Amino acid sequence: MDPALAQALANLGAPASGPLRLGGWTADQLAAEFGTPLYVYVAAALDARLAAVRQRFGAAVGVLYSVKANPAVAVVERLRRGGAGAEIASLGELHVARAAGHDPADLRWAGPAKSEAELAAAVAAGVGCLHLEAPQEVGAVAQAARAHGRRQGVAVRVHFPGAAQGARLRMAGTQSRFGIDADQVAAVLRQIAATPELHLRGLHTYAGTQQFDAHSFVRGAGQLVAAATAFERELGLSLPELHLGGGFGVPVFQGDPSFDLDAAAAGVRELVAANDRADRRWFVELGRYLTAHAGLYLVRVVRTKVSGGVRQVAVDGGLHHCAAACGSGSVVKRAPLLVTAADVAAPAHEPAAVGGPLCTPADQLGAPLDLPVLQPGDLLAVLAAGAYGLSFSPFGFLSHATPAEILVEAQGPRLLRRRGRPEDVLRDQLW
Ligand SMILES: Cc1ncc(COP(=O)(O)O)c(C=O)c1O
Repeated sequence: MDPALAQALANLGAPASGPLRLGGWTADQLAAEFGTPLYVYVAAALDARLAAVRQRFGAAVGVLYSVKANPAVAVVERLRRGGAGAEIASLGELHVARAAGHDPADLRWAGPAKSEAELAAAVAAGVGCLHLEAPQEVGAVAQAARAHGRRQGVAVRVHFPGAAQGARLRMAGTQSRFGIDADQVAAVLRQIAATPELHLRGLHTYAGTQQFDAHSFVRGAGQLVAAATAFERELGLSLPELHLGGGFGVPVFQGDPSFDLDAAAAGVRELVAANDRADRRWFVELGRYLTAHAGLYLVRVVRTKVSGGVRQVAVDGGLHHCAAACGSGSVVKRAPLLVTAADVAAPAHEPAAVGGPLCTPADQLGAPLDLPVLQPGDLLAVLAAGAYGLSFSPFGFLSHATPAEILVEAQGPRLLRRRGRPEDVLRDQLW
């Protein structure tokens, strides 16, 4: 079995052979109760990963959950109860975070195109810290703060050219829409310090996702610490909060490497030991690393046939629900972590092309994949699908209903999102 597949099963707490089992329930039972396609999240796996991260980084470092990775309220709430703060990127995510019990004063909002209306709503809601991504945002936030008679917390997101070498999706380079170029930050900090409506809280950096090189992450964190120290000295101001970013890599395709959490944590602990002080607050922000491993996408085989000598397996879900597993956002198409629910270790019998119901060849989970013989009615599970799943997918394409989402807890599976209905496509349309 591919090591990434074996690890994905272990992360779920699922046995490495026999029927796919999540907590006390087989995938078969869950599909019978909730139908397919179905997203399944496992609470114990969410808890375990967050606890491991918090334990490794130590009490001085706050862990923020990036809601974009999986905005299911119960997932966000579970992570909050486990001790994670939250980082948001839209008014929708603000709603999710509040529904999950987060105090807006503890929330951070980063994003390169926060509109005047969004800024006004964020200030009105009392969002604790807005991360500024362009010099012009200083004036825009100040205006919103003035209009609401508030003093607004802000931090500056710094773009270090060339950061996050090795990340699969980089947000840094010679130029970037994300963050303010390091050589422009001093001027922005001066401007903030001279604006009474703004409360300067610190610096932020985040340079890319699917970062598998822990040392590259630590280098970026070190750059931020060094920049903060230099700005404080040069400008005579205080930057107590340091948001070191995240983007830790998660194996989601066969052959993927894994991220060395211990090395990342050791590097950050060293930075903390050398640069801590009474007013300092340290943060890492993680989306995928906290939820990807804890979720899977379950589909049922509808038809099989042979075409051009290759077995074709058509399943009832795909790109519209689970775009990342079909290769969206990836430069190179790789085989997803796919298992048959009847026996996760079933020996491969023949190469098969597995795809969904959409009228595009992009709706393909893999071809060829080495799989056992499959029949209509069989269940397949895409593992490590708990992050950037449904919310990263073009679920409007072809107007299929959205899948249900469930959370498997100790006391049993719980429905988090009702399965959509075909007629939902008419919602909000006028004719
Ligand atoms: C600013 C910011 N923080 C955190 C994240 C979460 O990244 P990941 O899910 O890779 O941890 C992202 C992802 O796009 C981001 O843009």
